[in-house]
Amino acid sequence: MNQREQQISHQPVLVIDFGAQYAQLIARRVREAGVYSEIVHHNITAAEVAAKNPLAIILSGGPASVYEPQSPQLDPAILELGVPILGICYGFQTLANALGGRVDNSGLREYGATEMHVAAAGEILTGQPETQTVWMSHGDQVMEAPEGFEVLASTATTPVAAFENSERKIYGVQWHPEVKHSTFGQNILENFLYRAAGITADWNSGNVIAEQVEKIRAQVGSDRVICGLSGGVDSAVAAALVHKAVGDQLICVFVNHGLLRQDEAEQVERDYVAATGIRLVTVDVEEKFLSALAGVTDPETKRKIIGREFIRTFEEAQAALIAEAAADNRPIKFLVQGTLYPDVVESGGGVTAGIKSHHNVGGLPDDLQFELVEPLRTLFKDEVRTIGAELGLPHEIVQRQPFPGPGLGIRIIGEVTKERLDLLRKADAIVRAELSAAGLDGEIWQCPVVLLADVRSVGVQGDGRSYGHPIVLRPVSSEDAMTADWSRLPYDLLAKISNRITNEVAGVNRVVLDITSKPPGTIEWE
Ligand code: XMP
Repeated sequence: MNQREQQISHQPVLVIDFGAQYAQLIARRVREAGVYSEIVHHNITAAEVAAKNPLAIILSGGPASVYEPQSPQLDPAILELGVPILGICYGFQTLANALGGRVDNSGLREYGATEMHVAAAGEILTGQPETQTVWMSHGDQVMEAPEGFEVLASTATTPVAAFENSERKIYGVQWHPEVKHSTFGQNILENFLYRAAGITADWNSGNVIAEQVEKIRAQVGSDRVICGLSGGVDSAVAAALVHKAVGDQLICVFVNHGLLRQDEAEQVERDYVAATGIRLVTVDVEEKFLSALAGVTDPETKRKIIGREFIRTFEEAQAALIAEAAADNRPIKFLVQGTLYPDVVESGGGVTAGIKSHHNVGGLPDDLQFELVEPLRTLFKDEVRTIGAELGLPHEIVQRQPFPGPGLGIRIIGEVTKERLDLLRKADAIVRAELSAAGLDGEIWQCPVVLLADVRSVGVQGDGRSYGHPIVLRPVSSEDAMTADWSRLPYDLLAKISNRITNEVAGVNRVVLDITSKPPGTIEWE
């Protein structure tokens, strides 16, 4: 490893994913503690773990029972690597099982907030109250700790709720310290990272920027780069990072594909360009996208088409720009993508993979002509926002609610047409305006507004019978879009939104509220 590589590589804490929705949350909490973390599949071998040279390992929870024949197993040689290990929930039971303890299904389940009693602080419960509230979600129990392990805690129904062997540097807790409802959860993770594993916190936005700038320079050299700006925070921060690294070698292209929200084009051209001084070329391809989407109703097909047309548009933009670039012998070879870590994990990086093909990962055509630059590929959304702010981007861009790459195309249930897009844009603008006026922008994660174009219902508007489409409001609160809950918006606000939409948007005679959490529902309807 040369000196430069040493500077820009972080030894990770590996989060081994046993299929829990919590694996990403664990990885984020580790980073909040200032330590770089990566999620890996539970079938990783000890040799693969060793090759990553991790500082520590955390085994996530998961839905299985350790004694079921098909349950996910850990390569037992991982326990012999001498790397500090913390098992959480299923990960804790896996450790107990592999090391000679006893795991049983006593028929007593624990879900939700549970009182836990500390018997011995050990390393991971140091500095904590003897009785505390922890978040549990399990059916099986560790009945006996493995030999050589000290029992640290118990609950009314779980005799061994935490254990450790500080000599072997192996630790485990039955509850979920990564969940905020576990009052001292972050403290436990920090005890494990700093105290048990001896790790120094060195992961922060300043380091990430310096690291990425180095990486981008090394990758791009003196060639040119193009980047698609969507107006969203991801592409905006990705482009700003690349701009910081290679300056005017970057040309940003704004694809106006007609699937955007009201005024969005102007916001990109005005706010963002003013803040960064980035060179921006706008391409108007609404017609092209609409004809490619004509007659298509299947959500995955829509995503694939939008992804493909998006990339093709860049290839055409490249063709137009290449002549200019050729003059100074710096061709456009790279394409910036604002791919985030959750996209990577959901598209195949972890066990919870394959839920939807995200258009900036799964939908890329095979014959892509550019090499990708993905400076946010290891980052979570909140980290991207912090970096955006640190790079000086305007607050309203950095804090903008997430908007999917395929835009309003996946918020029309049914065929996408110009008329339907215009209708949805009006309804969406009303919802956004009212949420902002109520001061709720910071409280809800996002509020998709969905047009059920294939559904019609009877209504009475004015003096006559109407037969119109419903609009669905999907306000959600979330920390990372992996899980979400529906936002309890004030009734008066909902009434106002409903009145305005049915009065002002022709063709809509009903407004309904989606009250499904994620899981089981996803945030977007398609
Ligand atoms: P779901 O619907 O999977 O959405 O619960 C989770 C988050 O991802 C956004 N989303 C997308 N973003 N391309 C994107 O860039 C996509 O294809 C896509 N699909 C969903 C969604 O808005 C939410 O924030």
